[in-house]
Amino acid sequence: MSDQPSRPAAASPMLAALRDGTRDHHAAVERRLGLPDRIRARGDLAVALAALLAAWSPLERDLAAADWSGLPLDRRLGEAAALLRADLAALGVAVDRPAAGSGLDFGTTARAVGGRYVLLGSALGGRVIAPEVERRLGLREGEATRFFRRSGGAPGRDWRDFRRALAGREWSVAERHDAAGAARSTFDFVGGAAAVRPSGA
Ligand code: HEM
Repeated sequence: MSDQPSRPAAASPMLAALRDGTRDHHAAVERRLGLPDRIRARGDLAVALAALLAAWSPLERDLAAADWSGLPLDRRLGEAAALLRADLAALGVAVDRPAAGSGLDFGTTARAVGGRYVLLGSALGGRVIAPEVERRLGLREGEATRFFRRSGGAPGRDWRDFRRALAGREWSVAERHDAAGAARSTFDFVGGAAAVRPSGA
């Protein structure tokens, strides 16, 4: 399949720094969201999607405004927040548009790279999660799982392009450090949104 991410033998130093620097943070967010294990009814899915939207919407906006001039990447990430809204609408849940930004510092290209890594990489887990959620809830393919599937997008290609862009230029130790720090903050931001659960959920 052409949209599958390619798997080069070795990660670039920047990607390795992001991966090594966020392993624990990924595990923590995974635990907190509890996907797909905690999804037993449609309401559980709605709670998880609403939490993801509360994080994704400001993060996508802030990252689109970051300085991408040093990298051959589109500043827009594909607007996965729109897919979250569509999934929530499919579940009959109305959502407000959050006005505030994330408050995270994406003020350098390296720091913006850290944020983008988290949002783009999450699609890799999404392809594992989507079929399992659909099976558990008896949903059709893509029914309220458009975000996990990144329906209409090409997450494999986006991930490959991102990896290539990172590998295509030199990054100082300080930049790799900054990128990993921003990625950790991004994971924390997503985890923080997931921690806010409606009563009874
Ligand atoms: C909660 C359920 C989640 C599960 C079960 C999960 C699972 C996975 C899996 C299996 C992969 C590796 C996929 C592959 O190598 O083909 C992956 C990668 C990744 N996920 Fe998740 N994920 C989850 C949530 C998230 C979230 C919410 C984020 C972001 C906030 C995220 C960020 C990432 C990143 C950045 C990678 C790429 C790691 C790398 O290769 O460097 N994940 N995830």
